[in-house]
Amino acid sequence: MPDLLDRCFSEATINGLTLRNRLIKAATFEGKSPGGVPSDALVRFHERIGQGGIGMTTIAYCAAENDGRIHEHMMYMHEGIRTELERLIGTVQATGAKVAGQLGHCGAFTKNAEFSGKRPLGPSRGTNALGLTHGLSRIQEMTKPQIHQRAQVIGKAAGFMRSVGFDAIEIHFGHGYGVSQFISPKTNKRKDEYGGSLRNRMRFALEVLEEVRKNVGDDYPLLGKISMTDGVPGGVTYDESVEIAAMLEAGGIDVIICSGGTSSMNPMLLFRGDSMAPGLIKHEKSLLMKIGIRLAAPIMFKSYPYEEMYFLENAKKIRDRVQCGVCYIGGVCTNDSIRTVMDAGFDFIQLGRALIFDPDFPKQAQTRANYKNGCSHCNQCATLIEAPGGIYCVERPANFA
Ligand SMILES: Cc1cc2nc3c(=O)[nH]c(=O)nc-3n(C[C@H](O)[C@H](O)[C@H](O)COP(=O)(O)O)c2cc1C
Ligand code: SF4
Repeated sequence: MPDLLDRCFSEATINGLTLRNRLIKAATFEGKSPGGVPSDALVRFHERIGQGGIGMTTIAYCAAENDGRIHEHMMYMHEGIRTELERLIGTVQATGAKVAGQLGHCGAFTKNAEFSGKRPLGPSRGTNALGLTHGLSRIQEMTKPQIHQRAQVIGKAAGFMRSVGFDAIEIHFGHGYGVSQFISPKTNKRKDEYGGSLRNRMRFALEVLEEVRKNVGDDYPLLGKISMTDGVPGGVTYDESVEIAAMLEAGGIDVIICSGGTSSMNPMLLFRGDSMAPGLIKHEKSLLMKIGIRLAAPIMFKSYPYEEMYFLENAKKIRDRVQCGVCYIGGVCTNDSIRTVMDAGFDFIQLGRALIFDPDFPKQAQTRANYKNGCSHCNQCATLIEAPGGIYCVERPANFA
């Protein structure tokens, strides 16, 4: 029987796009786009990932519009950065890797100093704790025209992304950002056709998918990252996520990426390992926010010890439910884990921290018996996304030099 590693390291296609293998760099916002402009450091980061043999890398957090940014140092999709994006994508493609962009909208989860409106817009009224020190703490409920308009804005951004050369788009449907604020009953309290039943809470997500598809065409690869659970009482459950995946499949998604947790309510569910709270407190500039994180830490940063393939059992339920592509994400650090995930029938594997620790992970996993990536899941890299210069592995700071 051929080794399952061979399956991972053979070519695979997503809606006509051929990747040289089944490993995809997960979106990890690198914090290397000061003022919203992709920098040389961002180009170098993804070029190095490409040189390590990845099938496709993902440029994180391409916000659909200015007001879709969590903060002002994230990119938003507009003509002003076309040249920089084309250079970034072209440089990475020259390594043989394909390049996806993660298309997101933060919804009401923002502290963007360049926010143009009065209040962040979400499915329902509520409090945006992240915006407390930026005058953006009160969330305004969206009207139906505003909901349609946001879906159209996301669709247009997708059209722009295709035009600058992204090989694929990963739509962010999870982690507590704009679209998942509608999917989650925790943040969506609407009484109209956008709230209540899962079908209603998915209405905005499906409109987004429809608009994106309309703008990029049928012959273009679309991936969708979902949260299989919010990990909070009253939020999306693992059982519901199987139906979420089925609805996205019916809506025309090509690949579903099975993540979990939310950045706003339960980030450790998606990371596992050491708490990010001490690092976030250390790097936070606002004294008020430092105190806020310290006070919220026991509730928000729950303890989830790291385990290899921590989402596997729940992701398998999605694998079994849909016919479209399914990508596994969450704690793949050894070539044995690659075999296990391949054996379970997943089409792709996304890797985050393993590549920040060692961009040569794909080459190593392919060629070395019993390869084990050394990432300790200290999660320090994830606390550096707003630090000057952005993220790096604290154990191997010279990786991307
Ligand atoms: C530094 C860092 C930044 C991240 N930024 C994003 C992001 O912008 N979008 C996203 O969907 N997930 C983000 N994530 C989560 C990863 O995509 C991934 O879901 C998580 O790291 C688990 O995968 P892993 O075990 O392979 O690292 C980030 C993770 C890290 C470590
Ligand atoms: S800083 Fe390095 S060792 Fe720590 S989680 Fe990030 S990649 Fe892994």
